[in-house]
Amino acid sequence: MRQSLQGTPMTLLTDLSGQVAIVTGGSRGLGRHCAEQLAAAGATVVIIGKNPDSVAKATSELVAKDLDVVGFAADVSDYDQLAAVKSELGVLADAQILICSAAVMAEKISRTLRTTKTEWDRVLETNLNGVFHAVSLFVPSMVEAGYGRVINLSACLSRFTGPGLGGGLAPYRISKTAVTALTRNLAAELQFGAKNVLVDAVCPGHIQTDMGGAAAPRTIAQGADTVLWLATREQSDQTGLLWEDRVVVDF
Ligand SMILES: NC(=O)c1ccc[n+]([C@@H]2O[C@H](COP(=O)([O-])OP(=O)(O)OC[C@H]3O[C@@H](n4cnc5c(N)ncnc54)[C@H](OP(=O)(O)O)[C@@H]3O)[C@@H](O)[C@H]2O)c1
Repeated sequence: MRQSLQGTPMTLLTDLSGQVAIVTGGSRGLGRHCAEQLAAAGATVVIIGKNPDSVAKATSELVAKDLDVVGFAADVSDYDQLAAVKSELGVLADAQILICSAAVMAEKISRTLRTTKTEWDRVLETNLNGVFHAVSLFVPSMVEAGYGRVINLSACLSRFTGPGLGGGLAPYRISKTAVTALTRNLAAELQFGAKNVLVDAVCPGHIQTDMGGAAAPRTIAQGADTVLWLATREQSDQTGLLWEDRVVVDF
């Protein structure tokens, strides 16, 4: 780790010139931090968020720092909106890095027997379907090219072990359990790194973002470190896994 000018710990990235990174949820929080770090390392970064104002703000702030960033407002839960982004991107859609960070938290009162179908669908469609939409649109070209790094943001709240699946926040927890399962299954389909497309999930910990709240114990840079490390690592057969602070953790 090194310190940025503002004193924020940053993951030291290798030169990413010539690479394209697509970051869903890149307009705020962990996704925005990853977008900035990847662009600072030389990548062309495509950020996707739902709210046009939030996307415009993040994009203009990053471009003002001389970073090669383009932004698109699209709802990841809507396959057609994401497919339209892909069409607009042209050759930039053939990315080397895909970070799926876009997600929403469930309402506080969302125990399985108290949540509503509307709430269940809202969370699952964004957090799970959104990842499926992104990987189905942007991973095939990685497989064709023989290089790709895919990182899906999961959550420790969704694990079968440790702090996970303890009840409550049902749509959120289950959506993230499913994201980890999707990650594992896709990695298996890609023969666990044999095609040099690595697919992994990350538990960032409880992070100081809009979702995590200002009182969360960990900084955005701490939460993003493993994501950035996975996004830029060398070929490996250690993939299809759930990572926390650069260490594999049980699902
Ligand atoms: N923060 C934590 O403590 C924590 C803990 C464990 C896991 N995670 C996971 O880490 C990831 C990032 O979390 P965060 O804390 O950075 O969240 P955040 O600050 O709330 O940011 C969420 C991002 O997702 C985007 N987004 C939400 N719904 C979308 C949709 N339907 N279509 C497109 N973009 C959408 C938002 O875009 P707009 O700006 O347009 O709304 C925003 O850029 C999430 O997957 C989260 O579940 C976070």
